[in-house]
Amino acid sequence: MALLIAAGSARAGVGEDAYREQCASCHALNGVSTPEGPSLNGVVWRKIAALADFPYSPGLKAKRGTWTPGMLDAYLKDTQGFAPGTDMFWDLRDDVKRRAIIDYLKSIK
Ligand code: HEC
Repeated sequence: MALLIAAGSARAGVGEDAYREQCASCHALNGVSTPEGPSLNGVVWRKIAALADFPYSPGLKAKRGTWTPGMLDAYLKDTQGFAPGTDMFWDLRDDVKRRAIIDYLKSIK
């Protein structure tokens, strides 16, 4: 049990580090979007392009639905393939980092 907990928090640590390195320059986690990107706290299970304080691209607004972990995975891996015309130009091909970041985001309400 203790081992499982330790393994879980180690993974969360990897996600947090990867988030800082890959995402934090454009995305805050405090509910306030910046000109560089929408705030990402609570993004898992949020409607796509739903924040009132960020001017989303028509490309992302055209996507319907919710940011499930699977949708996030598809977007982060190939932004323009998932939402042609999106203003996010930042693909994260590393499967391990991408999944760790999604796990980390699940924990940030
Ligand atoms: C260079 C700046 C930049 C970086 C780095 C970046 N993004 Fe983005 N991201 C954006 C912009 C701009 C948008 C808005 C896209 C649009 O309107 O089409 C966005 C949108 C998003 C959205 C959609 C949010 C919503 O409210 O629907 C998610 C999720 C997201 N980014 C996650 C990430 C993650 C996770 C990372 C790190 C792997 C990351 N982004 C790295 C600029 C960036």
